[in-house]
Amino acid sequence: MQLEDVKAYLMPEYTIYRQILEKAVSSEEESLERINRYILSNNGKEIRPILSLLSGKLCGTLLPLSYDIAAISEIIHTATLIHDDVADNANTRRNAPTIRSLFSPSVAVLMGDFWLSRALHLLSSNLESRIVQIFTKAVERMSEGEIIQINRAETALTTQEDYFDIIERKTSALFIASMKSGAYVVKASDSQIDAIASFATHLGNAFQIRDDIMDYSPHLKTGKTSGLDLLEKKITLPLIGAMKNCPNREEYVRGLVHQIVINPSCEEEINRNKAIQKEVVEFVAQNDGYQYARKILTQESHRAKESLNCFNNKKEKEILNFLVDYMADREV
Ligand code: IPE
Ligand code: IPE
Ligand code: MG
Ligand code: MG
Repeated sequence: MQLEDVKAYLMPEYTIYRQILEKAVSSEEESLERINRYILSNNGKEIRPILSLLSGKLCGTLLPLSYDIAAISEIIHTATLIHDDVADNANTRRNAPTIRSLFSPSVAVLMGDFWLSRALHLLSSNLESRIVQIFTKAVERMSEGEIIQINRAETALTTQEDYFDIIERKTSALFIASMKSGAYVVKASDSQIDAIASFATHLGNAFQIRDDIMDYSPHLKTGKTSGLDLLEKKITLPLIGAMKNCPNREEYVRGLVHQIVINPSCEEEINRNKAIQKEVVEFVAQNDGYQYARKILTQESHRAKESLNCFNNKKEKEILNFLVDYMADREV
């Protein structure tokens, strides 16, 4: 199986979802519409709506609401990315300038709010209180994750436990909401919904671990600037792993990360950041930080697949298992 096969298989459903999404975010205000066109023409992998549709098809037959849920997932995701690029001072996403850098941080904050409000509108128009609950919980957890991440970065003390707490909130929570609500709406049983939530948790974790490995991989063409996590003092799994492999250097390395200046304002600060970055990247490479992160990623992938054991062998199950492997080795 290839990603192209998955896309071809889901094309009829994808087309409906995409129309709903574009209509849901449209505005009569030309200044907003101009930014909307920019966002919509630079679409990403759309993995969350794909997962949501697959989850529905695995557990039953899609209903009109299934497509709304897929659109809500992607709208919330896009809004949080636009905000995340403000939080992370990121200039490039999906091979293109971020809204923050092309327009301004204020425009990015407001545009993210606008997309979130349209997700809320779509959510409230379907009147299924359980689905509203699932998504509002996810947005709450995502915001908490991003704030906890900033808080841990300030002290450079992030532990592996903190790391998992952060990624389960900031990333896996939306995977869970997208898939759980996709299953719920087609009347999946409670045990099926639990299995889907477990799958989404482990896939989301694996997805973010892969993202964090890619941030340490400047040779990959991810469409995003690499090395940003460290410059934001984010201690992610490759670095946590290297410190576990070399505990006598842990305090020193945390001290280095602590000295990084977020938003450097002069040449001297920029150069010092670069020197620290070089030293930490070498430390991670020399102490098998990538292998460590990779091993945990593989465990998460296995757990995701195991979660689907209770389902009969259907095309959707085969595709979800394929996506687990695909996400684990993705380069974008
Ligand atoms: C990026 O998500 C944010 C993370 C959770 C790592 P994606 O990698 O799904 O972003 P796009 O939508 O495909 O650009
Ligand atoms: C994921 O974290 C952000 C969200 C879930 C909003 P990152 O900050 O690592 O995501 P990228 O690398 O900017 O896409
Ligand atoms: Mg970011
Ligand atoms: Mg990242």
